[in-house]
Amino acid sequence: MKLDHIGIAVSDLDASCKFYRESLGFTVSEPEELPDRQLKICMVDMNAGGAQVELLWPTHPDSAVAKFIEKKGPGIHHLCYRVEDVAAKLAELKADGVRLIDSEPRPGAHNTLVAFIHPKSAGGVLTEICQPG
Ligand code: CO
Repeated sequence: MKLDHIGIAVSDLDASCKFYRESLGFTVSEPEELPDRQLKICMVDMNAGGAQVELLWPTHPDSAVAKFIEKKGPGIHHLCYRVEDVAAKLAELKADGVRLIDSEPRPGAHNTLVAFIHPKSAGGVLTEICQPG
């Protein structure tokens, strides 16, 4: 298991991309739309062994990220760890009594399979696991 990305909720995607690209000098991907999650995302390569920042911008006021921003403001939203097999990891976590948001893997960005662990079981941190496609 290793850190894959840090999800950051943003209220202005263009301004955030510009900050990471121009002010900090990182490489930022083109935006990808995730219609089922009502999000547009950009990935920022952090020059950290593949670990990235995922900028999350809500495309609809009902999206979970829009509600997060409304409640807490923009900022760190989740951590994501890469695993070889999300379904197998979920089974292990379930057996350990870990509270899950997703009991089954579901499609994420760039052909990944993902699942979320409830913050109540992860020290208050929304935690995602992902498996590359
Ligand atoms: Co994520």
